[in-house]
Amino acid sequence: MLESKKRMAQGFSELKLAVEKGKGDPQEVFDRFQQACQTFLAETTKLPEEPAQRFMALVAQLGDQVKTGNQEGILRAMEEIREMRKVCHETYNV
Ligand code: HEM
Repeated sequence: MLESKKRMAQGFSELKLAVEKGKGDPQEVFDRFQQACQTFLAETTKLPEEPAQRFMALVAQLGDQVKTGNQEGILRAMEEIREMRKVCHETYNV
């Protein structure tokens, strides 16, 4: 598995913990997650440009919610990313 994907998956779980249980700083965890997403998109050969950009737009929306500290908004944005993950992983046989 790509190392960047491992960091993405880890960052996403950690963000949930930070938001729901106050473990760690959501902004710091989010910054690492976003960085891992960018690295992943640079490394993978399996993803066309259009879904890659749509994904990073969702990640940016999540970042906006993290910045304002809106817990409900963060969880909603994370749910949208989960839905896109499901569709993507089905589409690209991950
Ligand atoms: C937080 C959200 C996501 C997580 C935690 C996640 C996690 C993962 C993991 C663990 C793998 C590796 C599977 C394996 O090889 O065992 C993977 C692969 C992959 N994911 Fe995701 N994923 C997420 C979102 C997405 C989204 C939104 C897309 C599409 C835009 C996507 C596209 C892919 C592709 C194309 C691969 C194969 C990469 C390659 O082998 O080059 N993922 N993902």
